[in-house]
Amino acid sequence: MTVRVPAKVNLQLGVGPIRDDGYHDLVNVFHAVSLFDEVTAEPADGASVAVEAAPDAQVAVEGVPVDGDNLAVRAARLVADRLGVAPDVALRIRKAIPVAGGMAGGSADAAAALVACARLWDDPEAPRLDRDDLMKLGGLLGSDVPFALLGGTAVGVGRGEQLSPVEARGTFHWVFATADGGLSTPAVYAECDRIREAQGEPVPWPQASRTLMAALAAGDAAALGAALDNDLQPAALLLRPSLRRTLAAGRELGAIGALVSGSGPTCAFLAADEGHAAELAAALGGAGVAKQVVRAHGPVPGATTL
Ligand code: C5P
Repeated sequence: MTVRVPAKVNLQLGVGPIRDDGYHDLVNVFHAVSLFDEVTAEPADGASVAVEAAPDAQVAVEGVPVDGDNLAVRAARLVADRLGVAPDVALRIRKAIPVAGGMAGGSADAAAALVACARLWDDPEAPRLDRDDLMKLGGLLGSDVPFALLGGTAVGVGRGEQLSPVEARGTFHWVFATADGGLSTPAVYAECDRIREAQGEPVPWPQASRTLMAALAAGDAAALGAALDNDLQPAALLLRPSLRRTLAAGRELGAIGALVSGSGPTCAFLAADEGHAAELAAALGGAGVAKQVVRAHGPVPGATTL
C-alpha cells in the first residue's frame, strides 16, 4: 500500500495570541503543492520505519527519527488502536519534502501513514475508519496533519486543524528555495512570542485576508503574490538571518511574491506562469542563495493511494 502526499505552503499564516495550552489560534491558509513524499506500508512483525531521500531530492533525512517518535509510526499505532488490531507494519518513507523545512513534511508522512494503514488493515466485516475519522485522528497527531489529508487550498482555524476548503481558480506556479539545516517549529513560535512581548502591543485576533481570498477566487497570480503574508516570518528571519538574502534575491529576479514557508527555512516564490517559474528557478539556482531550488504547482490533492 503506497500513498503519495503533498507538501504545503502557507499563503497566509495569521498567528493570534498564545493560548493556555501553549498553541496559538491561527488563520492558516494552506495550499498543497506538487512536491510529494511517498509512504509505503507492508505487513510485518511489529512496527518499524525506514526513511530515504527520493532520487534527485537532496533531502537530508538524517534528522528524521526512525523509532516510535516518528510521526508516521505514531499515526500507524493510532490507526491500529482504533481498529483494535496489532500495529504490525513496516513503513517506508521516500522523502522529497524538505525535513524541518516549513512545508509540513512530517505531518504529510503522518497523513500518508494514516491512509495507508487504514487501507492495509481494512476488514469489510469490522468497523471501518472513514475520511472524517482519519481527519480527527490527524488532528490528534499534529495541527497540519488534517490538511495533508485534504489537500487543495483551505483555511484552517483553531490550531489550524479546523479546515474549510477555499475556492481557488486555476494553477499557481511556485519556486522553492530550500536551506541547509531545519528550523524547529516550536522555536519559531517562541521567537514570534518574544518579539511581540518586546513590542508590548496587544496581539490582534487574526483575520482571513479578503484580498488574498479574492486573488485565489480570481486565479490572479499577481494579486496573490502581493497578498502573501506570514506572521512567523520575522521570527524565522531573526533565527536564520541568511533567509533575508534568499528572499531579496528571489524578488530581484522577478518573483511576484516571496515569503518564508510556514516556520521556515524554505522560502517560497510565486511566478506569473509556468515559463516564468522555469526562468526564476534557473536564475535562483545560479544565485547561490539556496541549498536546492525546486519548482512545484498548486493546488494539488491531499494524500492519495497509488
Ligand atoms: O501541532 P504540531 O505538533 O504540528 O505543532 C508543533 C508546534 O508548533 C507546537 O508544539 C507549538 O509550539 C507550535 N504551534 C503553535 N500553534 C499552533 C500550531 C503549532 O504554537 N496553532
